[in-house]
Amino acid sequence: MSFLKNADPEIYKSINDEISRQNNLLELIASENFVSVAVLEAMGQVMTNKYAEGYPGKRYYGGCVYVDVAEDLARERAKKLFNAEHVNVQPHSGSQANIAAYFTFAKPGDTVLGMNLDHGGHLTHGSPVNFSGRLFRIVSYGVDKETGYIDMNQVEDITNKEKPRLIITGASAYPREIDYKAFREIADKVGAKLVADIAHPAGLIAAGLIKSPILHCHLVTTTTHKTLRGPRGGMILIGKDEENDMGITTPKGKVKSVGQIVDSNVFPGFQGGPLMHVIAAKAVAFKEALEPAFKDYSIQVIKNAQALAKKLVDLDYNLTSNGTDTHVMLIDLRNKGLTGKKAERALEEAGITVNKNMVPFDDQSPFTTSGIRIGTPALTTRGMQETEMEVIGDLIDQVIMNIGIDSVYKKVRSSIYELCQRFPLYQLPA
Ligand SMILES: Cc1ncc(COP(=O)(O)O)c(C=O)c1O
Repeated sequence: MSFLKNADPEIYKSINDEISRQNNLLELIASENFVSVAVLEAMGQVMTNKYAEGYPGKRYYGGCVYVDVAEDLARERAKKLFNAEHVNVQPHSGSQANIAAYFTFAKPGDTVLGMNLDHGGHLTHGSPVNFSGRLFRIVSYGVDKETGYIDMNQVEDITNKEKPRLIITGASAYPREIDYKAFREIADKVGAKLVADIAHPAGLIAAGLIKSPILHCHLVTTTTHKTLRGPRGGMILIGKDEENDMGITTPKGKVKSVGQIVDSNVFPGFQGGPLMHVIAAKAVAFKEALEPAFKDYSIQVIKNAQALAKKLVDLDYNLTSNGTDTHVMLIDLRNKGLTGKKAERALEEAGITVNKNMVPFDDQSPFTTSGIRIGTPALTTRGMQETEMEVIGDLIDQVIMNIGIDSVYKKVRSSIYELCQRFPLYQLPA
């Protein structure tokens, strides 16, 4: 980065400070990860200069021969990774993938069933401040108060009553596996289309560790930057059966495949030129995810989450559903007399990065919350294992039980610094 150092020392410094922050603090945000240097390199290169509206072989601009190679590789690798028949790697983000998915099957004003945000759903699953809640009539399902698992009876009852055009399943803060097959059976009874948003567990699904929705859902959307450990971005996948069996009649009376509709929703529907440097980096990340080492990594992500969850339960923390099947857990702090907001701030001061999060049946606002969400993808990338998770559980507890006591924060911070030095991450540029 020697060019940047001279050209823009202020931005250079902010990047270096961010590298130090990532290197020296404990990253427990469940939606974050650390990409490889190969992925970083693929993002910082000249494909950022290229306009490539359209798709490989069918672009609206000349000079696309090499970016076509990158996009084709990304698509082919993603197909292999998820056993998909058709893939669109152009969405700039998970939210962009979701808007394209909604418009594949529904039109503004249609009823859409999504997971209640307070119970773990995402903004794009029906928040009134998001396109989803502003354009569609949203009805929601949640988790069972006793078990913390998705209440499938409620899903069925609401579906039968409201007859949604579309059901979107998937979540941002739900620690358990989702029964896509059961969702599909419910959807089929009323002729609803089913979309699975696997933004969070995509890497675990690609590694074959938790159930895949690909054969049960009409469409699958994802981000590429969470457990999948790629660059920030989105993607849409269609399973074999859907691609072969489904045709959609357009207003002009033409029958199109779901893949064709998805592609035209992404471009020109909701986006212009694709980010070709990011698509190249997606291809690199997918290649990494196809290697056996990615499966080992993903196994460890789950083992670490389960070890940390157990440690926290032993320390008398209330976890939604009492544990996790995945990389994420949700801690209800009400028995500790603490809000999520206070806990997030205290943990950050002590060197542990988490995010405050609503818990099911929360009595606090989304700005305050009663809980925090934590996850293990990033620390597992650093090489940390169950032993470190035990230590981290203790460090979290020391902070939570000593809110406002600077000497405790200082001690925790120095333990974290030592821990991070044992698991080096990125090198600072010379
Ligand atoms: C379930 C789910 N869907 C979609 C998104 C949106 O992704 P992005 O932030 O890339 O728009 C997220 C992000 O956290 C998510 O958790």
